Amino acid sequence: MASAGQGELSSINSLFEDANISTHPIIRELEKAYRERIRSKYALAHNNGTSALMAAFWALDLKPGDQILVPTATFWASALPMMWHGLVPIFCESEDTELGLDLEDIRAKWNPNVKAIVIVPLWGIPGNYEAILNFAKEKRLLIIEDASHAHGAQFKNKPVGSFGDISVFSLQGDKLAPAGEGGMLLTNNLEYYNKAILFGDITRIVELDTPDSRFAATSFGVKTRIAPVSASIGLNSLKKLDERNAIRKSNMIRLSEALENYGFNCYTDTENWSRTYFEFVARPQLNNKNKLTATEWVKALLSEGCDVSEPRYPLLHEQPFFTEGAYKKVLRLDDSLCPEYNPGGFDKTRKVNGELIKFPCFTTTHTDLLDEYIDAIHKIGRSQDVIKTILENS
Ligand SMILES: Cc1ncc(COP(=O)(O)O)c(C=O)c1O
Repeated sequence: MASAGQGELSSINSLFEDANISTHPIIRELEKAYRERIRSKYALAHNNGTSALMAAFWALDLKPGDQILVPTATFWASALPMMWHGLVPIFCESEDTELGLDLEDIRAKWNPNVKAIVIVPLWGIPGNYEAILNFAKEKRLLIIEDASHAHGAQFKNKPVGSFGDISVFSLQGDKLAPAGEGGMLLTNNLEYYNKAILFGDITRIVELDTPDSRFAATSFGVKTRIAPVSASIGLNSLKKLDERNAIRKSNMIRLSEALENYGFNCYTDTENWSRTYFEFVARPQLNNKNKLTATEWVKALLSEGCDVSEPRYPLLHEQPFFTEGAYKKVLRLDDSLCPEYNPGGFDKTRKVNGELIKFPCFTTTHTDLLDEYIDAIHKIGRSQDVIKTILENS
């Protein structure tokens, strides 16, 4: 995570000077900055990405029992908040070239009860957005874009975060524009925006230009407003985002170039999209440039002192919350509307997920360590036959 500089500290100080650490206008400044950046009409800051997603699923005005397509390979918050509104996640496979939703699988899982789809530019990769957006249009699905990994990414020169009927960013401390804890909900639809306010922002209900302002004395019982300290950190992070992203990118491209010599897919930019590097994952493919499996690469890299791991998001559909039926306590629907979530299956996703290797993101202009990683990659890449024999016999 980025460290606090003078800018962050003095802007936090000014909240105390203004004697307003709860509803300070810095929250609206942060929203304005996001609106301008994403070119969205409305933005509502939240206390975290999870609650922004919770508000998003509520604001879409779906009815209990409606189903939503969502990747099984994502962070839990892309899916679980919908269940508090009685919305049923239908998990889908990810494809192996760009890690987006698998078109064949979402077609197979679609049925007339499916009303929306969650798209997640995983690790910062927008991937096959176009195919998924076309599918959503064809089936008249609402789109929730969970852009939590992808601050600054673009698809066809449009900012990621501008493709959803509602889009959400997490501003949690590890993210590319961290606020400590925070989330941002963006939409061009006034009704969705107003509903999100109604869901969790008591200070704005009174400002609503609709009969819903009558709920200002009670709200709907949920409070999701961001703290000004977080908003202040988030605003400073956003100002530095492009510069920080550019440094990460130039480092990660150097790492990618080294790995691509040995047949890795590093999910580098295509003519359609420009990614960001929330995390750097790469997948060794067995071909004439590479004979080592992901596990063998990890072993060899670890023995060279590299800090690598196999990321493997635990697939959501396999988690006890789903397989043991605990989810029904949240969903509170008639059993006939609750699907069975069985472990297993999802072979495509399991394969690609099991072959990813996570490297550190090199975030600074000091690249000595990066150079050492690149040397290690070449050393292993040139000695694959020997390494394979050693590992097979060990
Ligand atoms: C893809 C994704 N969506 C949503 C979230 C939830 O955000 P938060 O931690 O701010 O609640 C995260 C957090 O890691 C995430 O990775």
